[in-house]
Amino acid sequence: MKKPPRSLGSLPPEGAVSTLGGARRALMQTTSVSDARPVAVVTGATGGLGAQICQTLAQAGFLVAAGYRSSAGAAHALVEQLAGTGHCALAAPVTDSAVLASLANDIESRYGRCDVLVNCAGTTRFVAHDDLEGLDDALIDDVLATNVRGPFAMVRALAGLLKRSELPGGGVVVNISSVAAQTAMGSNVIYCASKAALDNLTKSLARALSPAIRVVSVSPGLVDTEFVKSMDAAWRDEQASRTPLGRLAQPEEIALAVLTAIRDLRFTTGCVLPVDGGRPLK
Ligand SMILES: NC(=O)c1ccc[n+]([C@@H]2O[C@H](COP(=O)([O-])OP(=O)(O)OC[C@H]3O[C@@H](n4cnc5c(N)ncnc54)[C@H](OP(=O)(O)O)[C@@H]3O)[C@@H](O)[C@H]2O)c1
Repeated sequence: MKKPPRSLGSLPPEGAVSTLGGARRALMQTTSVSDARPVAVVTGATGGLGAQICQTLAQAGFLVAAGYRSSAGAAHALVEQLAGTGHCALAAPVTDSAVLASLANDIESRYGRCDVLVNCAGTTRFVAHDDLEGLDDALIDDVLATNVRGPFAMVRALAGLLKRSELPGGGVVVNISSVAAQTAMGSNVIYCASKAALDNLTKSLARALSPAIRVVSVSPGLVDTEFVKSMDAAWRDEQASRTPLGRLAQPEEIALAVLTAIRDLRFTTGCVLPVDGGRPLK
């Protein structure tokens, strides 16, 4: 009698982070020859989204390297709280390619592998779209260097390791984009453009790095992080009312989309996965 096909693991139900023990078992069952845990590097690890992505990946069985720029203390504290052992906090200032080269060496000597890169670091500042003078060159350069050049520089630094990944489906890069790339509505004009450029980068790199490495964008709508919670309630309510699903995203939902892209969507590359409650429809 034919054996049934091996389960590829299923996505935990929405918001069910507590069920990620099951996700971890699924990942382990489907990881190929090596028994060693796969390694994920996450930039912007201490941010509202980055911290949740680190937690979700750790719960799913990854060794997490939490990348920071200025928040070294918070990154080390985060690593202490992650499920399992062996995680680390490392300097990953995405605008400094020399530091990223030594980050890659550090990852190789610590773990001997890198299977996943999540480009989550990002920057912006609110400037009204019609305030052209308010969007000064320094801010433009900072946003483009951090949100576009940064993810590229991370991929360039880690591509050699990612290509050797034994994860089913190969190494994976997840770029955290934004619905602003599509709607051109967001914190400022250049932020929107930077995320559109990032989605374009996702496609070029997916082609260039295939078949060894998959590259996807995960594109959140407004997420109810601590920062967003601190903003004017009327503005948040308005954003929710303009979203067909009637609310903002939870960080856990973005993190689960990242895990799904890595673990389950093995024939998916060069595309943008929206996690925006249908925001562009309204
Ligand atoms: N929150 C939302 O509603 C939302 C919606 C759509 C998309 N996004 C995207 O999701 C990502 C994370 O957002 P978030 O809300 O978690 O942001 P956040 O809380 O403001 O955190 C930003 C993170 O980026 C890091 N960072 C900034 N500049 C950096 C640089 N040059 N090098 C390395 N790290 C740098 C910061 O690190 P340090 O603290 O160490 O300096 C921080 O950890 C961003 O790419 C953002 O555009 C967010």
